[in-house]
Amino acid sequence: MKKISITTSVFELTKEDLLLDEHELMQEAIAAREKAYAPYSNFTVGAAILLDNQVIVQGSNQENAAYPSGLCAERVAIYYAGSMYPDAKMLKMFITASPKNRDLELPIPPCGSCRQAIAEYEIKQEQPITLFFMGAKGNIYKSESLKNLLPLLFDKNNL
Ligand code: THU
Repeated sequence: MKKISITTSVFELTKEDLLLDEHELMQEAIAAREKAYAPYSNFTVGAAILLDNQVIVQGSNQENAAYPSGLCAERVAIYYAGSMYPDAKMLKMFITASPKNRDLELPIPPCGSCRQAIAEYEIKQEQPITLFFMGAKGNIYKSESLKNLLPLLFDKNNL
């Protein structure tokens, strides 16, 4: 038996570390979060994606009385970007998440299903997407590729 160790890393940033376009993307994610429809969980999430055509696409979580029919903010945003701008590359994605009435300061990572969805587009465009995620405020985690968040990912090469 052989042990295989996998290591990964992300960066922790303050808002002051963000570049100008990243700061704008954060504001877009914050604005997106305000549009979340989350009457069941009261947990609101906003995502914003910067495309290489300079368009910024927003998404927020959209819940449903039939709970599994709802969708996370990240996938709302990425599927919208993929369907509206199929030839554009996704450069950066910013995510902010917190309960409606409480400002978490802990960076909130995208769920496993969203990581899988983001991975698909990273592979499709043959270029990494820089991911930023935070709570409602406080420090930000930055990952230079989705791959850092999803080691041993399942992709088309496994089919
Ligand atoms: N949610 C997201 O929008 N993104 C994630 O990565 C994790 C969870 C949403 C789904 C649901 O509307 C609420 O947050 C609570 O799980």
